[in-house]
Amino acid sequence: SIGDYQYIIDAGQKKFGATQCKECGIVYQIGDPDDEVFHQKYHNNGHDLKYTSWKHERVVAYYGSERVILIKPSDPKSWLNKVQNVLAIVDKELGYADSALEGLSNSQVYLYVMDKQVTGCVVAHQISFAFKMLNSVIEGCDCCSEESYPAKCGISRVWVAKNHRRKKIASRIMDCLRSSFIHGYMLGMDEFAFSAPTIDGKAFAEKYTGT
Ligand code: ACO
Ligand code: ZN
Repeated sequence: SIGDYQYIIDAGQKKFGATQCKECGIVYQIGDPDDEVFHQKYHNNGHDLKYTSWKHERVVAYYGSERVILIKPSDPKSWLNKVQNVLAIVDKELGYADSALEGLSNSQVYLYVMDKQVTGCVVAHQISFAFKMLNSVIEGCDCCSEESYPAKCGISRVWVAKNHRRKKIASRIMDCLRSSFIHGYMLGMDEFAFSAPTIDGKAFAEKYTGT
């Protein structure tokens, strides 16, 4: 009947424009193929973020029923495989290419675990110096100065799942990193550096380090 037909058209019209997935929190444009594929892949890869626990996992800190675990390059292959799968998702969102191939031989990886899934991740490696970031308002770009300063820890990735942001997860992981990156030593706020930060990353870093 015409009534049914009308109903279908109305339902169809609702399926355009920005929408937020109730399940994963991602905001995407229905009707935009790139957005839709990204969102679908996010769900297809969802199992890679599922995590219950490992025997002998290295817990850095508990936050109620939530926790931060640390994975080092010498850890069991199965742990490293899990980390690679998580990083594949993280890197897709950050737009890093072929990261999974880069290997973790030099990296310490911190995962935030809650509700049987990984909702946050920080990847850090040892460095000896960093370059100061310049905010070039005129040129509208972020540039690095040639002025270097001593630093101990480089951070290649900070990531929190979309529907869990602004709940201090990244701050907690960073606290864990600072207290555990070097055994028995608390990293000062000027002893780590974020590499090529995104807009989110810069906003977070400025707030976290108080700069
Ligand atoms: N915009 C403005 N301020 C922010 C933002 C933001 N997007 N994110 C954090 N802050 C500031 C806020 O002041 C916040 O406190 P408030 O919420 O009380 O105002 C404070 O930092 C602490 O934030 P957290 O809750 O600890 O940060 P969160 O867990 O949300 O994680 C992160 C921040 C990792 C940047 C997250 O937004 C994210 O995953 N973004 C997408 C991926 C990304 O761009 N990562 C950074 C890449 S750069 C790099 O990896 C080196
Ligand atoms: Zn979704």
